[in-house]
Amino acid sequence: MDKLVINGGNPLFGSIEINGAKNAAVAILPAAIMASSDICSIDNIPNIEDVHCIERILSSLGCKIKTGRNSVVIDSTDIVSMDANTNDVRKMRASYYLIGALLGRFKEARVELPGGCPIGVRPIDQHIKGFEALGARVEIKHGCVIVKADKLVGTNIFFDVVSVGATINVMLAATLAEGITILENVAKEPHVVDVANFLNSMGANIKGAGTEAIRIVGVKKLKGCSYSVIPDQIEAGTYMIAAAACGGEVLVQNIIPKHLESISAKLIEMGAQIIEDGDSITVKSNGKLKGVNIKTQPYPGFPTDVQQPLSALLTVAEGRSIINESIWESRFKHVDELKKMGANIKVEGRTAIIDGVEKLSGAVVKATDLRAGAAMVIAGLIAEGTTEVLSIEHIDRGYPNIEDKFKALGADIKRVSYSK
Ligand code: EPZ
Repeated sequence: MDKLVINGGNPLFGSIEINGAKNAAVAILPAAIMASSDICSIDNIPNIEDVHCIERILSSLGCKIKTGRNSVVIDSTDIVSMDANTNDVRKMRASYYLIGALLGRFKEARVELPGGCPIGVRPIDQHIKGFEALGARVEIKHGCVIVKADKLVGTNIFFDVVSVGATINVMLAATLAEGITILENVAKEPHVVDVANFLNSMGANIKGAGTEAIRIVGVKKLKGCSYSVIPDQIEAGTYMIAAAACGGEVLVQNIIPKHLESISAKLIEMGAQIIEDGDSITVKSNGKLKGVNIKTQPYPGFPTDVQQPLSALLTVAEGRSIINESIWESRFKHVDELKKMGANIKVEGRTAIIDGVEKLSGAVVKATDLRAGAAMVIAGLIAEGTTEVLSIEHIDRGYPNIEDKFKALGADIKRVSYSK
């Protein structure tokens, strides 16, 4: 088992490359099994555990997978099973995309209920509502979602809540339905648009992803394609926040600045300097920033996935900051860990009130989930003394080579193996 050992206090200088987006890749890989002929060759795939997990699940269904350093080639012409029920399926959230993908291509699927970060209840009622509206019968039995349809027929679906997962999952199935599907009250996240673009490269007819409504004209079959995944908005946001927190000057490369506007705006409000240039952003900061209030919201609002990393910075920002977490009801588990380092935070329901302290002090803390892990790394980087971050398997699910990237910027951080 590994932990990260960080000696805090170093400013960050230099440049880093952001990898492909986790939340796009974990939807695009299952979507690739909808190609009934030819191969999908996908580039800019992040080298993270959630991607490896999906690749193992696809292999277990009978896909032939060839992986490169940041690429994967998937041949799913001879899928032998519609039954995804391995340990890997239970481990991760995005395995639910297999339901939409298998339902679209084979009109049936049997997929274990998904796992994922313990950040809230995480229902899938909106996914089910969408599949049923397309004509599928859905049953939950022995912890599995079982879906079957004689045929899928396009229709109008208005989601009750804005859900990234439901928008993508129902879009997958509707791509191979008969006729036209209109999805309304949809998620507009960059990864939703990326999955739609990927499906269109496979021969789908999807318009409007990223707007209020998505219009899908069903096609009979999808073919293979070559595709490159968009840069990771959340990974980029995490490094921008770390640079602002530690002070210094960091060039964050291979990004789409438009996707980062809500994060850039908050960092500017705090007193950091943000300079956009093509596909990169430079963050300059003296490490002494002002507290701000944030409310997490669906895109283009402030992303819930960046709330925890930002909260680490707010612990040492001047004055009071208030965070309202409107997406996930249990996304403050990292607060107790930050308190071990001297943070002054009070949580009341979905609100965290943070009064900035002069300094954090190093401690042994754990990553309670993926983005909580990133928050603890940032806290360790700004703290006085040594911080040990345990349970970093959560971090490895979503951040490629986190210690190498921070080391290259001048941080004193190393991965250490230990036994319990
Ligand atoms: C995706 O989760 C991301 N995961 C999450 O990122 C992210 O936090 C979340 O979207 C919001 O942006 C992946 O893409 C794999 P939702 P998802 O459906 O799709 C409610 C990370 O750190 N809801 O958009 O599961 C739900 O309870 C991870 O990378 C329903 O009520 O989230 C929540 O309050 C963590 N019924 C809200 O909608 C449903 O059927 C948004 O959830 C579905 C969702």
